[in-house]
Amino acid sequence: MKSADDDSIPGEREPAFPRHVAIIMDGNGRWAAERGLPRAEGHRAGTENVRGIIEACLEADVEVLTLYAFSTENWLRPREEIDALFAILSDVIDRETDELRRVGVRVRHLGSLDGVPESLAERVRYAVQATQNNDRLVLNIAFNYGSRAEIVGAVKRIVADGIDASKVSEAMISANLFTAGLADPDLIIRTAGEMRLSNFLLWQAAYAEYWCTEVYWPDLTPALFRTALKDYMRRQRRFGGLPAPTAAT
Ligand code: IPE
Ligand code: IPE
Ligand code: MG
Repeated sequence: MKSADDDSIPGEREPAFPRHVAIIMDGNGRWAAERGLPRAEGHRAGTENVRGIIEACLEADVEVLTLYAFSTENWLRPREEIDALFAILSDVIDRETDELRRVGVRVRHLGSLDGVPESLAERVRYAVQATQNNDRLVLNIAFNYGSRAEIVGAVKRIVADGIDASKVSEAMISANLFTAGLADPDLIIRTAGEMRLSNFLLWQAAYAEYWCTEVYWPDLTPALFRTALKDYMRRQRRFGGLPAPTAAT
């Protein structure tokens, strides 16, 4: 078990870091608008911010980092913005995959590649395949991801397998989601002041803790990210039960 690097919390048992952190990276457009820049520049700045957050996760021994990069609803945006975002994502995969492989990050893709331009789909498959033997940090990229569609897909597979209704279980549904085999998120961070899930990890987030900030995604520094981890460590998770006994009781 790890401990906080400086400000330990008096009177409590050693707090647990989150094993799985998921981030709804929001506010790229507003970040750009505030600077009089095109929205695509916000997406570029947002993408560049990812590296420092991955490093912070490696330092904190976070096991799984899930990043919401593009939702199935984001197809509603102007084609120009979508194309610009896809070009930026292609660049970042070309630039970063070797380094991710070197530092032990395993990339997984949550979502579908249907409708995604082949040049980008190919890069996503490459990043997944090139890093598949790594085990220091799982980096889930939720790209062309929608949680309701994910759940529908799981149900379809279970039905197609001819499973009897009496045998359907929560574990079976979890095992048929894109996140199969991974622990559920402990902490979900959303930037840019919004407080909603936007079709993200609806099933997996059943008992997640939430942390929101007004800060736009491109401005979320590793230091602020570590603050979120520390705030999480002060929370008391109950999972429907009674509070855990403290030393005083
Ligand atoms: C998040 O930033 C990135 C994506 C959804 C792709 P936005 O583009 O949603 O930024 P805002 O919410 O318009 O500021
Ligand atoms: C959620 O952000 C999706 C991603 C961060 C990729 P949006 O900006 O698309 O969410 P809404 O539309 O404000 O709920
Ligand atoms: Mg947004």
